[in-house]
Amino acid sequence: MKYEYKKEPELYTPIMMRIISKRDLTPDVRFFQTVPKEEFKHLDLDYKPGQFMMLSLYGSGEAPFSISSSPTRKGIFEFAIRKTGKITNKIFELKDGDQLGLRGPFGNGFPIEKMLGKDIVIVAGGLGAAPLRSLLLYILDNRELFGRLIYLYGAKNPQEMLYRPDFFEMLESDQLELHLTVDKGNEGFEDKIEEGMVTHLFKYVNDIDPKNTIACVCGPPVMYKFVVNEILKYNLEKHNILVNLERRMKCGTGKCGHCIIDYRYTCIDGPVFTYWDVIHMRELI
Ligand SMILES: Cc1cc2nc3c(=O)[nH]c(=O)nc-3n(C[C@H](O)[C@H](O)[C@H](O)COP(=O)(O)OP(=O)(O)OC[C@H]3O[C@@H](n4cnc5c(N)ncnc54)[C@H](O)[C@@H]3O)c2cc1C
Ligand code: FES
Repeated sequence: MKYEYKKEPELYTPIMMRIISKRDLTPDVRFFQTVPKEEFKHLDLDYKPGQFMMLSLYGSGEAPFSISSSPTRKGIFEFAIRKTGKITNKIFELKDGDQLGLRGPFGNGFPIEKMLGKDIVIVAGGLGAAPLRSLLLYILDNRELFGRLIYLYGAKNPQEMLYRPDFFEMLESDQLELHLTVDKGNEGFEDKIEEGMVTHLFKYVNDIDPKNTIACVCGPPVMYKFVVNEILKYNLEKHNILVNLERRMKCGTGKCGHCIIDYRYTCIDGPVFTYWDVIHMRELI
């Protein structure tokens, strides 16, 4: 299959999207399914798993959000948004049919071309399952293009687990090796969810071929160094460990400098970095 992604993002002009459905994923994270308004439907709105969009509301401003849908499911953009402050509070007030501005896609996304044919180990923590859902669905929709697919997901408790019903369904699938855990309180879900940190799930990750495996990690900052340490035990090359990092952003286009880590701009050089690129960073050491 030929892989294509968007050439030039619309840098400064948002297009308008309409919310077609929403549901609560956790007590403070809501899933929004959006489509371009009629006048924008003709645009080439392709993207890569791991890229993000700037979502905006008139009068409130804009903020970056990872795309949680897969580019294989054309025309629909999905987001998992945590209610945390000014803009997200306003987004939570929106109803079906209401509109949102959207700029992007921004960021590098996952290097899909490099991942083709490889075994993939995905490790998600908490809200990290939002961008990693895009990658997961992309691989499942192109299953023959990848090798083994191992997915480890940890959340604080079952109520905080994003897409829980979808993951429960995937536990029955032979298309991936999925393991779920919560820090505490798996009562009632013992047959599906283990108890313990996400690192505890590495006991299921066996027979890894280090030359043919790529690991992708996204979660809260505290998770990275512990997870990366586990992955390094399998002798993966540092450039085959990919971490999805978040920084405060304003422009999303490499102009304002808000998102700089040393000499790199998270918004254009990231948010997906190889472990090799960011080995010295606070989250990773
Ligand atoms: C590349 C990228 C992808 C993201 N993807 C998602 C996503 O898929 N879903 C999601 O819910 N959020 C995501 N975020 C975070 C999201 O952008 C912030 O939560 C949002 O900007 C908060 O806006 P606000 O106006 O509601 O909150 P504010 O009123 O600006 O802030 C409320 C509180 O949140 C803190 N905060 C604000 N922005 C951030 C941030 N970027 N990181 C950490 N703390 C922050 C503030 O310090 C404050 O304590 C992403 C951020 C980046 C950079
Ligand atoms: S957000 Fe402005 S340079 Fe990255």
